[in-house]
Amino acid sequence: MCGIIGYAGSREPVGVVSEALSRLEYRGYDSSGVAFFDKKGSISVVRASGKLSRLVEALQGATGLPGAAIGHIRWATHGAPTEENAHPHRSGPIVLVHNGIIENERALRRELIGEGCVFSSETDTEVLAHRIHRAYREEGDLQAAVRKGLSGVEGSYALAVMCEESPGQLVAVRKGAPLILGEAEGEFFAASDIPAFLKWTRRVMPLPPEVLAILSPEGLSLCRLEDGQPVPAVFEEVPWDPVQAEKGHYRHFMEKEIFEGPRAIIDTLEGRLAEENSRVILPELLRLGPNPTEIVFVACGTSYHAGLLGRLMIESFSPISVRVEIASEFRYRPLRARKGAWVIGISQSGETADTLGALELARKEGYLTVGITNVGGSSITRETDATLLTRAGPEIGVASTKAFIAQVTLVWLLALYFGRRESPEVRESLAALVRSPARLEGFLGSVDSSAIERMARQVLDSRFVIFIGRGMDYPLAIEGALKLKEITYRPADGYPGGELKHGPIALVERGVLVVAPLADSSLRPKEMSNIREIEARGGTVLTIGPASPDPSDPSPSFPLPACQGWDGVFLASAVLQLLAYRAASLTGNDVDQPRNLAKSVTVE
Ligand code: M6R
Repeated sequence: MCGIIGYAGSREPVGVVSEALSRLEYRGYDSSGVAFFDKKGSISVVRASGKLSRLVEALQGATGLPGAAIGHIRWATHGAPTEENAHPHRSGPIVLVHNGIIENERALRRELIGEGCVFSSETDTEVLAHRIHRAYREEGDLQAAVRKGLSGVEGSYALAVMCEESPGQLVAVRKGAPLILGEAEGEFFAASDIPAFLKWTRRVMPLPPEVLAILSPEGLSLCRLEDGQPVPAVFEEVPWDPVQAEKGHYRHFMEKEIFEGPRAIIDTLEGRLAEENSRVILPELLRLGPNPTEIVFVACGTSYHAGLLGRLMIESFSPISVRVEIASEFRYRPLRARKGAWVIGISQSGETADTLGALELARKEGYLTVGITNVGGSSITRETDATLLTRAGPEIGVASTKAFIAQVTLVWLLALYFGRRESPEVRESLAALVRSPARLEGFLGSVDSSAIERMARQVLDSRFVIFIGRGMDYPLAIEGALKLKEITYRPADGYPGGELKHGPIALVERGVLVVAPLADSSLRPKEMSNIREIEARGGTVLTIGPASPDPSDPSPSFPLPACQGWDGVFLASAVLQLLAYRAASLTGNDVDQPRNLAKSVTVE
């Protein structure tokens, strides 16, 4: 949660840092602030509670001297989202921004108060500012002060630190929270995510944990936090296009990202199909040795739903049994997987604290771990034995859309990879996967937006929306419900169709809307009987699927083309995403930055 940016270069820094913050706004948006050297050579700190636009107003006309500057966008953990708690925090000449949580903050705060320190905020971050300031008084050098100030600090942090007595210099360091360095001609960046500086450079380097980066317009050096030993800097060019991180002609990132689903599938398949698309190759997995005896997917939110689809897909084609676990629950239970099992974490951001915690537990128990992530260089890529990258490009909208489509593509690939290549079902499924981006693109290009609009209005007129599905449609149902509630704030929930009779059907009455994706043809008759049970009790049902092979079934409310393999999952997902998007935009909610949520949940 929270986004930080540090800049060292010859441009006017207030503009650079504010623009970078606007690209990080998806990470948190309850307050923000910047620090820069003003015309007198002192550090000016400007902060504002609320959305970034409030800070931009407060900064009207402000310019800074070229050199170092920092910025922060906050998702509050310690202390309310007030201006006093907004970052940057200051102690004497030391000014810093922080993403993460200091776990021994209380003890450190008590110690500092005992030494006469006066606190001006309720944040854990201020503890770091005072500690580094104290160390600076003893060491007289920013780099040494940061190293000393952080010793004994427990928890996670990504920090960018400036000192009034060292204009032009910036120190960045991380442990547990992400921090990416960017390099351009005569300027350097340190940010929570690449889109922050993608406009200026594509040359990036994920800062390794517990390594200190010293940035200035003249250059960059790295050293170990523990002993100051030098560490080499190795930058790579990311293939991300800066335009991908812009809204273009769309009203919201979410809308744009729904329409980028087909590209996410194409890019995720890239280089993974061999012999004229007749074989799946995943070279990333070769180093893990023989196929797993069992797979345990661990993930949160939408990524968990992709794991549920992965289980159905993999179990269709191979004898490998698959478990899917919510990472935050799994990490506090005994693991008890079979010998030879792989634990696979799915995470768009690669930074979700619970997913990383679950993988850490698995590694400690001696299991091989794999990360499926959309962000190269993220923590999950460093903390697992192998990484499979989804290639959806930067996803800015907090509600995950194209990243989900890319995750489903990847688990579908995994199912084919573990399946018997000679099997006609595997071959047909592979052919369907190869055709799926074109089919999704064609579908999105001709989608009936007035039908989506009508459904969205029905959603908003209902007291409660229930999503149901069986088989593949169950993960789609709970994903549809999650999408709807996170951006419309309307009560919605998803259930397996067969569970209705065991409780949720008591909710059904006139005024309750039920949404039923029908992409799984194998269970259509069972799904139809659930739908009839709801209609018999006065509920209204919206169905999304291809026409039924049974002519006595009613036509779907939102017809899909006949599904090929599992591509109905992509088509139905697109409709559910558009439905949530449209309903949310009708409410006037901030679609890309829904209340209380953050894109990367880097705290437990
Ligand atoms: O980055 P991750 O995939 O690990 O994030 C997991 C969830 O926080 C995320 O999917 C969340 O549920 C989305 N907001 C859903 O749209």
